[in-house]
Amino acid sequence: MTDRCNFRCTYCMPREIFGPDHAFLPRPEVLTFEEITRVARLICGLGVHKIRLTGGEPLLRKQIERLVSQLAAIPGVDMTLTTNGALLARKAQALRDAGLQRITVSLDALDDPTFKRMNDADYSVAQVLEGIDAALQAGLAPVKVNAVIQRHVNEHAVLALARHFRGTGVILRFIEFMDVGATNGWRMEDVVSAREMLQQLQSHWALDPVDPNYAGEVATRYRFRDGAGEIGLISSVTQPFCRSCSRLRLSTDGHLYTCLFAGTGQDIKTPLRAGMDDDALMQIVVRHWQQRNDRYSETRSEATQTLRRVEMSYIGG
Ligand code: 5AD
Ligand code: SF4
Repeated sequence: MTDRCNFRCTYCMPREIFGPDHAFLPRPEVLTFEEITRVARLICGLGVHKIRLTGGEPLLRKQIERLVSQLAAIPGVDMTLTTNGALLARKAQALRDAGLQRITVSLDALDDPTFKRMNDADYSVAQVLEGIDAALQAGLAPVKVNAVIQRHVNEHAVLALARHFRGTGVILRFIEFMDVGATNGWRMEDVVSAREMLQQLQSHWALDPVDPNYAGEVATRYRFRDGAGEIGLISSVTQPFCRSCSRLRLSTDGHLYTCLFAGTGQDIKTPLRAGMDDDALMQIVVRHWQQRNDRYSETRSEATQTLRRVEMSYIGG
């Protein structure tokens, strides 16, 4: 939706890089709602049935409800959105009314010192929790909460978040810190493995594994034995799932990316703006998808660290 964000999460848009002098995409480079809808329609015609709106921070895009209602009109589409939650309290109902089905909110800690250190923009936990409440009230169900866990930064948030969201219907998902982009100073030592997170959780609660909802689901799911709900672990570093990945990303500036760790994408904006017809555009998508052989996470090593990688804020997860 946008490469801009009101947060500066240290693992995603570190302030030293995304500071006052950073050149965000100029307006004409950004796909319009009509262009996004056209590409989405074509891709849904090829069998895609799930759309996730991401950023940057998607709620910074003015009148995003208008896009949501355009996309909701595509037959058979299931649509969700990932947000940092800061603007959600005032947007949740409008999003629901426009046809959004569910939502994912990022929240990395439950205490302000840790959360503010991570978002680096002085946003408080309370503000995000208000957004989550508004989403629950608006019926954006289920609400999922994403937490990225980093060594020596927010390991303590695993239990705090689990305790807080148990029994609320919110599905918590813990994500291993990933080497997306080239600016977040990623080091393997700073990754807390999903296995370790699971051990932390299991030392407090009995958890039972749950089957995936669908083939290619990225989270490994568990259920609290006492009925207090579900938790997921996203272990893309320690247990990569490249083989079953079926995601295609459309960047803010109109490029298709078949991998989160890709260096370059396939330009679809230029042909789109040159007036190419639906069939020819569809061929570009099909060719790009058929050529893909991405397995970055499976081959990650010292050597792959030097490869060029797109920043997360351009393609949104
Ligand atoms: N590693 C893991 N997760 C990340 N996210 C952003 N950058 C990273 C990273 N380097 C998460 C955000 C959000 C989702 C879109 O991806 O916290 O929840
Ligand atoms: Fe913004 Fe999300 Fe990146 Fe944080 S992780 S800087 S909230 S886009």
